[in-house]
Amino acid sequence: MEAVLVPFVFVFIALILQAGEVKSNAEEEALTSLRNSLADPNNVLASWDPTLVTPCTWFHITCNSDNRVVRLSLYENKIEGTIPADIGNLTKLMALDLRANSISGTIPPSLGQNLQSLTFLGLEDNRLTGQVPHELGNIPNLKFLNISNNNLCGFLPIELLRVPTLDWSNNPGIGKVCP
Ligand SMILES: *[C@@H]1O[C@H](CO)[C@@H](O)[C@H](O)[C@H]1NC(C)=O
Ligand SMILES: *[C@@H]1O[C@H](CO)[C@@H](O)[C@H](O)[C@H]1NC(C)=O
Repeated sequence: MEAVLVPFVFVFIALILQAGEVKSNAEEEALTSLRNSLADPNNVLASWDPTLVTPCTWFHITCNSDNRVVRLSLYENKIEGTIPADIGNLTKLMALDLRANSISGTIPPSLGQNLQSLTFLGLEDNRLTGQVPHELGNIPNLKFLNISNNNLCGFLPIELLRVPTLDWSNNPGIGKVCP
């Protein structure tokens, strides 16, 4: 009986390991896509080595016990460039901290669409433009959203008003139609 079960157990374990690996590789690809769309004059992303099995040992990344990325923190690092839609593939992310850099471009809608575990989103003190995507209003447990000191425009999605800590100050275009 046991001798019959053993091969099945091995196959099962192999499948679990493979599933785990596929997931962390997808997150590694999403982070590599982010890195490729950023300029990093201070080389703070130098440890982001895509040949490692998971991104969990990279600096500025925190994972949970399942090796899924839950925190990405690049506060005040003189980073330029844009946020790619692939950031939405970090589906377990709880905190995204890009505060105080020189990031430009728009806020990708995928951020609100796919990052349903986000509680902290710090985008203040950058050079973001365009409309605040209404998808951000769909993140169920968002507790902190600061988009202050950017060049965002348009009307703030009404759903955002339930976010306990919300700061959109110093965006001269907010409340006006985008040019
Ligand atoms: C992110 O997910 C989308 C949808 O599954 C996929 O098309 C895209 O290739 C992924 N991006 C990366 C960088 O893996
Ligand atoms: C949002 O960011 C701005 C700019 O750094 C800061 O002055 C403000 O205190 C922040 N707001 C909140 C609610 O933390």
